Amino acid sequence: MAPQQSNQTKPLQQMHHIPHHLCRVCRCITAAITLATLATIPAMAWHGSIAITTPNTQLLLHADEGGDLLMDYYGPKAATHTELRDAGSALATAALPAFGTVDMVQLPALQVQHPDGDLNLSLYVDEVTTERHLTTITMRDRLQPVSVRLCYKTYPDVDVIETWTEIENGHKRPITLKRYDSGHLALRQGDVWLTHLHGNWAAEAEPTTEPLTRGLKTIRNTDGARNAHLDAPEVMLSLDGRPQENSGRVIGAALCWSGNYELRVNTIARREHHFYAGIDPQSTEYVLEPRRTFATPHLAMVFSTEGMGGVSRAFHRWARTCGQLHRGMRVGDILLNSWEGLYFDINEERMMRMMDDIAGMGGELFVMDDGWFGDKYPRQNDSTSLGDWVVDKRKLPGGIKALTDGARDRGIKFGIWVEPEAVNTRSELFERHPEWVLQARGRDLKLGRGGSQLVLDMTNPKVQDFAFGIVDDLLTRYPEIAYIKWDANASIQNFGSTYLPRDRQQNLYVDYHLGLIKVMQRIREKYPDVVIQDCASGGGRANYGLLPYFDEFWVSDNTDALQRVYIQWGTSYFFPANAMAAHINHCPYWNTGGRTTPIKFRCDVAMSGRLGIELQPKDMTDEERRQCATCFEDYKQLRHTVQTGDLYRLISPYDRKGVAALMYVGQATTAGEAVLFIYKIDNYYDQPIPRFCLAGLNPDATYTLTEKNVRTGQQPCSLSGKCFTGRFLMEVGIEVPLWEDYASRVFHLRCK
Ligand code: GLA
Repeated sequence: MAPQQSNQTKPLQQMHHIPHHLCRVCRCITAAITLATLATIPAMAWHGSIAITTPNTQLLLHADEGGDLLMDYYGPKAATHTELRDAGSALATAALPAFGTVDMVQLPALQVQHPDGDLNLSLYVDEVTTERHLTTITMRDRLQPVSVRLCYKTYPDVDVIETWTEIENGHKRPITLKRYDSGHLALRQGDVWLTHLHGNWAAEAEPTTEPLTRGLKTIRNTDGARNAHLDAPEVMLSLDGRPQENSGRVIGAALCWSGNYELRVNTIARREHHFYAGIDPQSTEYVLEPRRTFATPHLAMVFSTEGMGGVSRAFHRWARTCGQLHRGMRVGDILLNSWEGLYFDINEERMMRMMDDIAGMGGELFVMDDGWFGDKYPRQNDSTSLGDWVVDKRKLPGGIKALTDGARDRGIKFGIWVEPEAVNTRSELFERHPEWVLQARGRDLKLGRGGSQLVLDMTNPKVQDFAFGIVDDLLTRYPEIAYIKWDANASIQNFGSTYLPRDRQQNLYVDYHLGLIKVMQRIREKYPDVVIQDCASGGGRANYGLLPYFDEFWVSDNTDALQRVYIQWGTSYFFPANAMAAHINHCPYWNTGGRTTPIKFRCDVAMSGRLGIELQPKDMTDEERRQCATCFEDYKQLRHTVQTGDLYRLISPYDRKGVAALMYVGQATTAGEAVLFIYKIDNYYDQPIPRFCLAGLNPDATYTLTEKNVRTGQQPCSLSGKCFTGRFLMEVGIEVPLWEDYASRVFHLRCK
């Protein structure tokens, strides 16, 4: 990772040369000579090569004397600069293409407008520093007082490189950031395929895969407040054709940001594809004040030679061990959430009854969802009360205290739902502070959920204090609250802030999220241990911009077990199991045409994430209760392996083989264990069911299989109790009985 050489002490006279570029179209040398550049040829420019390394991968860059920073290579740790040069394999293309430096064929990753109207940047490398795992490449414009620090951060044990830029305005007047990507990668052109997660509310995270063709492919999100419902801010790029699950070279990239973004892949008449990722600059040409620095969100990148599975495992490990998921290696409790069982219809008696039920089945936590608050405007439905975070005493006469006491008496924990960034027009908060909502000056308000929901202006420090205060107040008054569900159910539909000055309105989309992050940081500083779920109408905020402050996210408002097999599959491309809240649903399920699936199937699907339950337990049959109790008991033995193990996706539900299968291989304290999940998702006569070949095991170890969450009233299948070598399980495989509709099996594997 250390920069390999530097010439900072080089005498001034040796440095005078004219920056030039090799034109790739006609191969002529275009010398960039202007009066200005001649006048500002850097006297002390840095030159040399830079290697950013992880345990198995490297990113190589270099700068020639006085020249621009170039990217040469990203891939396995198998190349030196000399070898790349000798083989003609160095990409030698702009590492951070800036408008004004790159020719017109290549899209810029960076463009600023200086106070005098100049739109160009021409950056030379001034300094390269390495401090532990952080390499900072400081580049300065050859004319204007703007500098850009391109940063790369690595970790000792995971193959993730984070990159971002810090743009410093050295002018005495503001500058405008017209394009400010977090990172850019060049890849050698070839049979490269792009995969990203496309979706919708209640149908999040569907992997969409296509070969890259000439031209520009853009993935973006403009919701304003959430960014993962439609197209998510993560991609995979397979360099070896259609991506494979466990083989082939695949790059994964995740933009760690919760606001609007743009990911672009540009395939031009050259040798490379160019990948760019950053905040979407449309409507956000950010005004940067004098002497201030703007740091872009981090872009996390993985290069794997183990296919998409390798990319996922690296992201999961990074999330859990490098602070990208607040929960880290901790596992989540088994909980009952009141939403789909009661919706807004909560009261003290029903809360107590639900707590009895979850405690009785062996659960550990009860979460009271929406509907508990509002005095002047009681929250009976979604059209009122957001903003009025006082207990509705008509529903809950004993207040929250009675509920936390009730939970304690039953030996479980208590959690509560809030939506701090939102307000309803029918609320006391809106009556007091109409200026706190985002609004377009002089225009009618566009109203969201319930015909009356609006988004609070998180750019305003007073609103930030208010949002912090909601959580702070609850946790100070009721320290027994162990879990908060933080929801966000509205997009930014009214573009305008009464807090931001007129000539800073374009900063809104970005400053909103910077404000939100400030609030989360304050909460985390004061309450590091409370579990906080990141929810946004389901999975709208499943992203690494917010997960450092959250313990988990709500994967989807769709809990139908069959659809969840698909949604959780896609979500697992980037997010680990201990972040994915997966709840057992009720049947018939309203969101998927009244589909009914067996309780065992529903349990088995939810057991592959952070297990919970989302229904009215009093409506459960005895069989359902017994099955849930078995599931909870077994899950307690399996959850460390599931939630912190290495994921191997074995058979994709998208491959139309009638089944889906995945497994987790235990790490650290659960090394030597694994958990296998198999789901039957189609059922036709004479349909061949594949043999299941496992992955990630020690070939020489012998594993005992034990079937878990066995269906109530049945015996474990014949495989249970048998022993096999890892080699047999991976290379030959097992035949698993799956007869009925939605049959499913869970096996615990343990090394002898
Ligand atoms: C959103 C969430 C749900 C639930 C409701 C409450 O839709 O995704 O889980 O909390 O809000 O209004």
